[in-house]
Amino acid sequence: MRRPILAANWKMHKTIAEAVAFAEAFRPLVADAAAEIVLAPPFTALAAVGRALAGSNVKLAAQNVHPEKQGAFTGEIAPPMLVELGCAYAIVGHSERRALFGESSAFVAQKAAALLAHDVLPIVCVGETLAEREAGRTFEILESQLMGSLVEVPPTRAADVVIAYEPVWAIGTGKTATPGIAQEAHAMIRAWLDKRFGAAAQRMRIQYGGSVKPENAAELMAQPDIDGALVGGASLDPSSFARIAKFEENAK
Ligand code: PGA
Repeated sequence: MRRPILAANWKMHKTIAEAVAFAEAFRPLVADAAAEIVLAPPFTALAAVGRALAGSNVKLAAQNVHPEKQGAFTGEIAPPMLVELGCAYAIVGHSERRALFGESSAFVAQKAAALLAHDVLPIVCVGETLAEREAGRTFEILESQLMGSLVEVPPTRAADVVIAYEPVWAIGTGKTATPGIAQEAHAMIRAWLDKRFGAAAQRMRIQYGGSVKPENAAELMAQPDIDGALVGGASLDPSSFARIAKFEENAK
Protein backbone atom coordinates (compact mmCIF):
# COMPACT_ATOMS: atom_id res chain seq x y z
CA MET A 1 0.00 0.00 0.00
CA ARG A 2 1.24 3.46 -0.86
CA ARG A 3 0.80 6.03 1.89
CA PRO A 4 -0.73 9.18 0.42
CA ILE A 5 1.47 12.28 0.53
CA LEU A 6 -0.05 15.76 0.54
CA ALA A 7 2.41 18.61 0.03
CA ALA A 8 1.88 22.37 0.23
CA ASN A 9 3.88 24.32 -2.33
CA TRP A 10 3.75 27.89 -1.09
CA LYS A 11 5.82 29.23 -3.98
CA MET A 12 6.86 32.86 -3.33
CA HIS A 13 4.29 33.43 -0.57
CA LYS A 14 4.56 34.14 3.17
CA THR A 15 7.07 36.04 5.23
CA ILE A 16 8.68 34.24 8.17
CA ALA A 17 6.04 35.60 10.54
CA GLU A 18 3.19 34.52 8.24
CA ALA A 19 4.72 31.09 7.72
CA VAL A 20 5.15 30.49 11.46
CA ALA A 21 1.57 31.61 12.14
CA PHE A 22 0.39 29.08 9.53
CA ALA A 23 2.48 26.25 11.02
CA GLU A 24 1.22 26.92 14.54
CA ALA A 25 -2.42 27.03 13.44
CA PHE A 26 -2.03 24.02 11.11
CA ARG A 27 -0.28 21.39 13.19
CA PRO A 28 -3.13 20.69 15.64
CA LEU A 29 -5.61 20.47 12.74
CA VAL A 30 -3.77 17.52 11.19
CA ALA A 31 -2.38 15.82 14.31
CA ASP A 32 -4.64 12.81 13.66
CA ALA A 33 -4.20 12.69 9.85
CA ALA A 34 -3.40 9.32 8.30
CA ALA A 35 -1.55 10.68 5.27
CA GLU A 36 1.99 12.02 5.14
CA ILE A 37 1.87 15.83 5.21
CA VAL A 38 4.58 18.16 3.96
CA LEU A 39 4.99 21.96 3.88
CA ALA A 40 7.30 23.65 1.36
CA PRO A 41 7.75 27.28 2.45
CA PRO A 42 10.16 29.68 0.75
CA PHE A 43 13.83 29.16 1.71
CA THR A 44 13.78 32.15 4.06
CA ALA A 45 11.10 30.56 6.26
CA LEU A 46 12.43 26.97 6.36
CA ALA A 47 14.30 27.32 9.66
CA ALA A 48 11.45 29.00 11.50
CA VAL A 49 8.78 26.67 10.11
CA GLY A 50 10.99 23.70 11.00
CA ARG A 51 11.09 24.90 14.62
CA ALA A 52 7.33 25.52 14.65
CA LEU A 53 6.71 21.96 13.40
CA ALA A 54 9.13 20.25 15.81
CA GLY A 55 7.54 17.18 17.39
CA SER A 56 4.59 17.22 14.97
CA ASN A 57 3.66 14.81 12.17
CA VAL A 58 4.20 17.51 9.53
CA LYS A 59 7.40 17.37 7.48
CA LEU A 60 9.43 20.11 5.85
CA ALA A 61 10.36 20.48 2.17
CA ALA A 62 12.32 22.93 0.05
CA GLN A 63 10.97 24.22 -3.27
CA ASN A 64 14.25 23.85 -5.13
CA VAL A 65 17.92 22.91 -4.72
CA HIS A 66 21.21 23.16 -6.60
CA PRO A 67 22.95 19.87 -7.40
CA GLU A 68 26.42 20.88 -6.17
CA LYS A 69 27.45 20.50 -2.51
CA GLN A 70 28.95 24.01 -2.43
CA GLY A 71 30.68 26.48 -4.70
CA ALA A 72 30.44 29.69 -6.70
CA PHE A 73 26.71 29.57 -7.48
CA THR A 74 25.38 32.93 -6.36
CA GLY A 75 21.86 32.77 -5.02
CA GLU A 76 21.67 28.96 -4.92
CA ILE A 77 21.10 26.53 -2.04
CA ALA A 78 22.95 23.21 -1.68
CA PRO A 79 21.63 19.84 -0.46
CA PRO A 80 23.64 19.82 2.82
CA MET A 81 22.01 23.17 3.68
CA LEU A 82 18.60 21.53 3.34
CA VAL A 83 19.72 18.60 5.48
CA GLU A 84 20.81 21.02 8.19
CA LEU A 85 17.36 22.65 8.12
CA GLY A 86 15.66 19.29 8.57
CA CYS A 87 14.11 19.08 5.11
CA ALA A 88 12.72 15.63 4.42
CA TYR A 89 11.80 16.47 0.82
CA ALA A 90 12.58 18.96 -1.94
CA ILE A 91 10.51 19.80 -5.01
CA VAL A 92 12.45 19.71 -8.28
CA GLY A 93 11.44 20.47 -11.84
CA HIS A 94 8.29 22.42 -11.04
CA SER A 95 6.77 23.69 -14.29
CA GLU A 96 7.35 27.28 -13.17
CA ARG A 97 11.07 26.54 -12.86
CA ARG A 98 11.08 24.77 -16.21
CA ALA A 99 9.16 27.54 -17.99
CA LEU A 100 10.30 30.74 -16.24
CA PHE A 101 13.87 29.79 -15.31
CA GLY A 102 14.75 27.55 -18.23
CA GLU A 103 15.41 24.38 -16.23
CA SER A 104 15.94 21.30 -18.37
CA SER A 105 15.14 17.73 -17.43
CA ALA A 106 18.90 17.05 -17.41
CA PHE A 107 19.36 19.69 -14.69
CA VAL A 108 16.37 18.31 -12.79
CA ALA A 109 17.98 14.85 -12.97
CA GLN A 110 21.18 16.20 -11.36
CA LYS A 111 19.14 17.79 -8.59
CA ALA A 112 17.19 14.60 -7.91
CA ALA A 113 20.40 12.55 -7.75
CA ALA A 114 22.09 15.08 -5.43
CA LEU A 115 19.08 15.05 -3.12
CA LEU A 116 19.02 11.24 -2.94
CA ALA A 117 22.73 11.24 -2.13
CA HIS A 118 21.89 13.41 0.89
CA ASP A 119 18.75 11.47 1.82
CA VAL A 120 16.44 14.37 1.04
CA LEU A 121 13.65 12.80 -1.00
CA PRO A 122 12.89 14.45 -4.34
CA ILE A 123 9.40 15.39 -5.50
CA VAL A 124 9.94 15.41 -9.27
CA CYS A 125 7.34 17.40 -11.22
CA VAL A 126 6.24 16.65 -14.77
CA GLY A 127 3.33 17.89 -16.85
CA GLU A 128 2.18 18.95 -20.30
CA THR A 129 1.00 22.39 -21.45
CA LEU A 130 -2.44 22.99 -22.93
CA ALA A 131 -0.95 23.27 -26.43
CA GLU A 132 0.83 19.94 -25.99
CA ARG A 133 -2.35 18.25 -24.76
CA GLU A 134 -4.42 19.69 -27.60
CA ALA A 135 -1.83 18.47 -30.09
CA GLY A 136 -2.22 14.93 -28.67
CA ARG A 137 1.33 14.96 -27.32
CA THR A 138 0.62 14.50 -23.58
CA PHE A 139 2.12 11.03 -23.18
CA GLU A 140 5.11 11.81 -25.37
CA ILE A 141 5.90 14.92 -23.28
CA LEU A 142 5.47 13.06 -19.99
CA GLU A 143 7.71 10.22 -21.18
CA SER A 144 10.41 12.59 -22.26
CA GLN A 145 10.28 14.52 -18.97
CA LEU A 146 10.30 11.31 -16.93
CA MET A 147 13.15 9.79 -18.92
CA GLY A 148 15.24 12.95 -18.68
CA SER A 149 14.48 13.81 -15.05
CA LEU A 150 14.91 10.29 -13.60
CA VAL A 151 17.91 9.22 -15.65
CA GLU A 152 20.21 9.23 -12.61
CA VAL A 153 17.84 7.40 -10.24
CA PRO A 154 18.88 3.76 -9.71
CA PRO A 155 16.06 1.18 -9.28
CA THR A 156 17.20 0.64 -5.67
CA ARG A 157 16.24 4.25 -4.84
CA ALA A 158 13.14 4.56 -7.02
CA ALA A 159 10.70 4.10 -4.12
CA ASP A 160 12.28 7.17 -2.45
CA VAL A 161 11.21 9.39 -5.33
CA VAL A 162 7.78 11.05 -5.45
CA ILE A 163 6.45 12.06 -8.86
CA ALA A 164 4.08 15.04 -9.13
CA TYR A 165 1.94 15.04 -12.27
CA GLU A 166 0.96 18.67 -12.77
CA PRO A 167 -0.71 19.52 -16.06
CA VAL A 168 0.45 23.10 -16.67
CA TRP A 169 -3.04 24.12 -17.83
CA ALA A 170 -4.43 23.20 -14.40
CA ILE A 171 -1.89 25.09 -12.27
CA GLY A 172 -3.28 28.21 -10.65
CA THR A 173 -6.10 28.35 -13.19
CA GLY A 174 -8.94 26.84 -11.17
CA LYS A 175 -9.28 24.25 -13.97
CA THR A 176 -8.62 20.97 -12.20
CA ALA A 177 -8.10 17.91 -14.39
CA THR A 178 -11.13 15.66 -14.03
CA PRO A 179 -10.39 12.56 -11.95
CA GLY A 180 -10.61 10.55 -15.18
CA ILE A 181 -8.10 12.69 -17.07
CA ALA A 182 -5.75 12.72 -14.10
CA GLN A 183 -6.01 8.94 -13.59
CA GLU A 184 -5.31 8.32 -17.26
CA ALA A 185 -2.06 10.29 -17.02
CA HIS A 186 -1.13 8.69 -13.68
CA ALA A 187 -1.68 5.20 -15.09
CA MET A 188 0.54 6.04 -18.04
CA ILE A 189 3.22 7.37 -15.68
CA ARG A 190 2.97 4.21 -13.53
CA ALA A 191 3.36 2.04 -16.63
CA TRP A 192 6.45 3.99 -17.65
CA LEU A 193 7.90 3.70 -14.12
CA ASP A 194 7.23 -0.03 -14.23
CA LYS A 195 9.21 -0.38 -17.45
CA ARG A 196 12.04 1.73 -16.05
CA PHE A 197 12.22 0.51 -12.43
CA GLY A 198 10.33 -2.79 -12.33
CA ALA A 199 8.55 -3.82 -9.13
CA ALA A 200 9.59 -0.61 -7.29
CA ALA A 201 7.09 1.29 -9.46
CA GLN A 202 4.26 -0.12 -7.35
CA ARG A 203 5.75 1.58 -4.30
CA MET A 204 6.36 4.96 -5.96
CA ARG A 205 3.89 7.66 -5.09
CA ILE A 206 2.46 9.84 -7.84
CA GLN A 207 0.90 13.11 -6.70
CA TYR A 208 -1.59 15.09 -8.74
CA GLY A 209 -1.16 18.87 -8.79
CA GLY A 210 -3.18 21.67 -10.37
CA SER A 211 -6.03 23.51 -8.66
CA VAL A 212 -6.52 20.89 -5.94
CA LYS A 213 -9.06 22.19 -3.42
CA PRO A 214 -10.85 20.78 -0.36
CA GLU A 215 -13.88 20.20 -2.62
CA ASN A 216 -12.11 18.01 -5.20
CA ALA A 217 -9.32 16.32 -3.19
CA ALA A 218 -11.29 13.23 -2.12
CA GLU A 219 -12.49 12.46 -5.63
CA LEU A 220 -9.00 12.77 -7.08
CA MET A 221 -7.47 10.73 -4.27
CA ALA A 222 -9.99 7.94 -4.87
CA GLN A 223 -8.35 7.16 -8.23
CA PRO A 224 -6.18 4.02 -8.13
CA ASP A 225 -2.93 5.67 -9.29
CA ILE A 226 -3.28 9.03 -7.50
CA ASP A 227 -1.29 8.84 -4.27
CA GLY A 228 -1.38 12.40 -3.07
CA ALA A 229 -1.43 16.00 -4.13
CA LEU A 230 0.92 18.93 -4.59
CA VAL A 231 -1.13 21.98 -3.69
CA GLY A 232 -0.40 25.63 -4.40
CA GLY A 233 -3.14 28.22 -3.88
CA ALA A 234 -5.37 26.12 -1.60
CA SER A 235 -2.42 25.33 0.68
CA LEU A 236 -1.93 28.93 1.80
CA ASP A 237 -4.74 28.79 4.35
CA PRO A 238 -4.36 26.36 7.29
CA SER A 239 -7.95 25.12 7.41
CA SER A 240 -8.12 24.72 3.63
CA PHE A 241 -4.93 22.65 3.48
CA ALA A 242 -5.97 20.67 6.57
CA ARG A 243 -9.19 19.68 4.80
CA ILE A 244 -7.15 18.52 1.81
CA ALA A 245 -4.71 16.64 4.06
CA LYS A 246 -7.66 14.87 5.69
CA PHE A 247 -9.41 14.21 2.38
CA GLU A 248 -10.91 10.94 3.67
CA GLU A 249 -13.22 12.92 5.95
CA ASN A 250 -14.62 14.86 3.00
CA ALA A 251 -15.29 11.61 1.18
CA LYS A 252 -17.70 10.46 3.90
P1 PGA B 1 -2.17 25.30 -7.68
O1 PGA B 1 -0.59 25.02 -7.85
O2 PGA B 1 -2.67 24.32 -6.65
O3 PGA B 1 -2.27 26.73 -7.22
O4 PGA B 1 -2.79 25.05 -9.01
C1 PGA B 1 -0.08 23.72 -7.83
C2 PGA B 1 1.41 23.73 -8.05
O5 PGA B 1 1.89 24.54 -8.87
O6 PGA B 1 2.15 22.94 -7.43
